[in-house]
Amino acid sequence: MHLGIDIGTSGVKTVLIDDGGGLAATSTASLPVSRPRPGWSEQDPGHWIHAVENALDELREKEAGALSAVAGIGLSGQMHGATLLDAHDKPLRPAILWNDTRAAEEAAELDGRACFRDLTGNVVFPGFTAPKFAWVKRHEPRVFEETRRVLLPKDYVRLWLSGEAVSDMSDASGTSWLEVGARRWSAELLAATGLTLEHMPALVEGTEPSGALRPELARRWGIQPGAIIAGGAGDNAASACGIGAVAPGSAFLSLGTSGVLFAVIGSFRPNVTSAVHTFCHALPKTWHQMGVMLSATGSLEWLAGVTGRSAAALTDALGPDLRPPSRVQFLPYLSGERTPHNDAAIRGAFAGIDLDADQKALTQSVLEGVAFALRDNLEALAATGTRPPRVIAVGGGSRSRYWLRLIATVLGLPVDVPAKGDFGAAFGAARLGMIAATGADPVAVCAPPDIVETIEPDTGLRAVFADAYENWRRLYPALKGATA
Ligand code: XUL
Repeated sequence: MHLGIDIGTSGVKTVLIDDGGGLAATSTASLPVSRPRPGWSEQDPGHWIHAVENALDELREKEAGALSAVAGIGLSGQMHGATLLDAHDKPLRPAILWNDTRAAEEAAELDGRACFRDLTGNVVFPGFTAPKFAWVKRHEPRVFEETRRVLLPKDYVRLWLSGEAVSDMSDASGTSWLEVGARRWSAELLAATGLTLEHMPALVEGTEPSGALRPELARRWGIQPGAIIAGGAGDNAASACGIGAVAPGSAFLSLGTSGVLFAVIGSFRPNVTSAVHTFCHALPKTWHQMGVMLSATGSLEWLAGVTGRSAAALTDALGPDLRPPSRVQFLPYLSGERTPHNDAAIRGAFAGIDLDADQKALTQSVLEGVAFALRDNLEALAATGTRPPRVIAVGGGSRSRYWLRLIATVLGLPVDVPAKGDFGAAFGAARLGMIAATGADPVAVCAPPDIVETIEPDTGLRAVFADAYENWRRLYPALKGATA
């Protein structure tokens, strides 16, 4: 048995897999997010620990026997969160999360220094860790002075689980302090924000052991002493391990609150200007590229909230057949955008509303706005030479066949739908735990699931959607600066 623990934004999830890699049990515990000011997003690191305790207590109640056989543990988590600890490893303030945009000014400043783009291969986005630390240095000098250690969310949980301060390459890639090509911390980039290598955790690959579960915690949950904790991964790389996207050429599309188009590459091949993320994968000598849009299913959930209907009811109302493009256009930038604009200030918009525009037209335009933004991501990946031939769709939004038909048509790619199952980040983390504990071949363990359906682009509507995409692309430059 192997255990995966994912520290998500809205909750912690645990997954137990058996020695053959099959799903054995899961448990969850929810997490609050606090938004003390517009654009801010924080979490108390203590809440992560309590949520892990609750989720493991639940697992112990349900599956004590299985838990007692756990040999490997893998961690995954929301990326980028700045968790600042004092000399006694106590958090100095709430963690500043990935979707917090307060550090836009600091991000632009760091991004303006050539060394950041050169060494990391990425734009310094406001959501990344280094600009948040620069914000703290500027606005909370006492916290800055007292900071002795900077950890990412899952690595704070690891410190508690094992006593070891360790991170893995994939999660570390989102800090703006890692030389992503060389897979090591950069003393130069750390110094640019007032830090040294001593502030940073040790680095391992996601498939390597990082330590062992502390004996008192092993006793508490009846886990065998010495259970190995793998390096694990940031949530997107962990999801890739769960869905079997580990060999160069494979790709997946995650339609969660945020939308991610993720492609595996076999060499470090950044292209900073298109705001593509080029990060280490959880497997050694492998990297991945991602286009990240901040509000994918988040946009549909927003519409569900304001109309008082469920997201499923809204999409079901469109019927099964793909409609020609709506006259209403929607920009899904409800909390700013990363790829391709790197614009924390932009906000969403409807355009082209006429007297006939009803709820269906708005729903259709929201689905289309997200599909067009995904096409922007595909184009951004293509600009780096990465052209996935097909994608597997995962995440809550992939339950809508209408949306998947639309996305296949707008992207011009077949979209594979996996058999029902659990392929998320916690499942991928459990696989990494298995690899670290047993030395099994990562590519064999991270196999793709069965595909139950492939949704092909609608050739009859491909051309009109290509035109609609070109029109939609004019909206952002027209609105830039007008919606902040
Ligand atoms: C990736 C990113 C998000 C978070 C969400 O760069 O910011 O996917 O990891 O959990």
